[in-house]
Amino acid sequence: MDKIEQLQQQVATAQLGGGQVRIDSQHKKGKLTARERLQLLLDEGSFEELGMLVRNRNKGITAEQEQFLGDGVVTGYGTINGRLVYVFSQDFTVYGGSLSEPHAEKICKVMDLAIENGAPVIGLNDSGGARIQEGVVSLGGYADIFYRNTKASGVIPQISAIMGPCAGGAVYSPAITDFIMMVEHSSYMFVTGPNVVKTVTHEEVTSEELGGAQTHASKSGVTHFACSNEIECIQYIKQLLSYIPQNCEDKAPMYPYTTGNESRKALNTLIPSNPNQPYDMKEVIEELVDAESFFEVHKDYAENIIVGFARIAGRSIGIVANQPAHLAGVLDIKASVKGARFTRFCDSFNIPLLVLVDVPGFLPGTDQEWNGIITNGAKLLYALCEATVPKLTLTTRKAYGGAYCVMNSKHIGADLNFAFPQAEIAVMGAKGAVEIIYKKEIDASPNPEERMNELVAEYTERFANPYLAAEKGYIDEVIVPDQARIKLIKGFAMLENKVVNMPRKKHGNIPL
Ligand code: HXC
Repeated sequence: MDKIEQLQQQVATAQLGGGQVRIDSQHKKGKLTARERLQLLLDEGSFEELGMLVRNRNKGITAEQEQFLGDGVVTGYGTINGRLVYVFSQDFTVYGGSLSEPHAEKICKVMDLAIENGAPVIGLNDSGGARIQEGVVSLGGYADIFYRNTKASGVIPQISAIMGPCAGGAVYSPAITDFIMMVEHSSYMFVTGPNVVKTVTHEEVTSEELGGAQTHASKSGVTHFACSNEIECIQYIKQLLSYIPQNCEDKAPMYPYTTGNESRKALNTLIPSNPNQPYDMKEVIEELVDAESFFEVHKDYAENIIVGFARIAGRSIGIVANQPAHLAGVLDIKASVKGARFTRFCDSFNIPLLVLVDVPGFLPGTDQEWNGIITNGAKLLYALCEATVPKLTLTTRKAYGGAYCVMNSKHIGADLNFAFPQAEIAVMGAKGAVEIIYKKEIDASPNPEERMNELVAEYTERFANPYLAAEKGYIDEVIVPDQARIKLIKGFAMLENKVVNMPRKKHGNIPL
């Protein structure tokens, strides 16, 4: 019995991490502890901890330095809605959750298990960075994690929740993972903090402004989700997992679905008759997908493109859609990168893609050209070209110029291309086209404006429609909008067993 009691005592001590005082201080900051977070995340009673009794045996700066059981991170496995996941949760009560050699080894152990057993890995980050007392050993620990993040990329889904500090090189582990969530006002991410920024660039900036959740959700795009508190953050992780498979060999879970009346009359009037009038593509999405199934990713970043998960007749899909309600849905650098990264995630994990097109083209200007719209626009093109999952396109209105090719055109491997009768598929808009091709005729005309209007009307009649593309087979079907959902349900079901064999290669060289 003594031995059993001894073990129980050790377990009780380990549960307290850095001790009750530090737990109280964590709570006072409005933050949960590492274990409380896991309790909320995982199915009740499912958590199995690994390495609870790990202790740091490295000599620190001072010999009397206290060595806590677990060494600042709780690791193991459990289930979320019955599905296996591997987890690590950094314990801020032990040296500020800083990363020591054994701390890193524990994380690496669960990552290795996750890769070998094909299940997602979820990291709850709350850490002061490298354990200062350990020097380069700690840096090595980070690099060991980065290496595994990269090895796991495209093999198992990796999700990072930032629930406290995440600074310096430590940011690069979440950055390699598939999705980042940040909690507003209690988490921040930056490579160099406000003090260094002030010294080097003389800018005065707070941690929140520099690297808080809102900043990264809207300005940098580093985080995919800004959550108002830790509970919401954990809910988002669970919701996200519901759309994605366990690994790259698996299919996303199907949800029970009963077929009803799938005609959607609202779609017949959602697209304004005036092509210059904006509308909200999210309303179109809501009509197309299963009720309340749309889960938007990167909501506040590059709002001219929408990306997110949804279900169609119970099947998980990824949506990439131009948003005419924001900058007319134009493609710019940020939108292209956002769309490309999401596309690649879906393709890595067998999630079929739906591309909704209403795009006037690429954004002109020196800012875009000098910052590389060529290379960055090519990312979206490349990502959609290389994707071999079922790919459906619905052109709701404009599809002009290069953006027509990029937005999942038939030519780059789309399986089914639908268009609404309002669609305008052409090299460019009527006015721009007429100004170029009829310049001499308009200049020579006694009434240039009148002649121009006549020619614009002629061009619109002739080119601004889906029928030339349909004649060539680039559009498989021009559909009455209220039939769109039915067409998509049937299309995705038809493509369920799609197989594409691409030429053998080590890996492609996406323009970075
Ligand atoms: C060891 C650390 C620590 C660290 C915090 N602590 N950071 N111990 N190594 N990196 C300890 C503190 O001594 C304290 O111990 C406890 O954690 C809580 O810290 P506080 O400062 O009291 O908390 P708070 O006021 O909330 O501030 C949190 C903080 C601050 C902002 C994270 O502690 C801080 O600035 N820490 C240093 C951050 C840093 O410079 N890290 C290295 C970055 S470089 P007690 O005993 O009092 O509880 C890096 C490189 C990675 O990470 C490169 C990878 C390639």
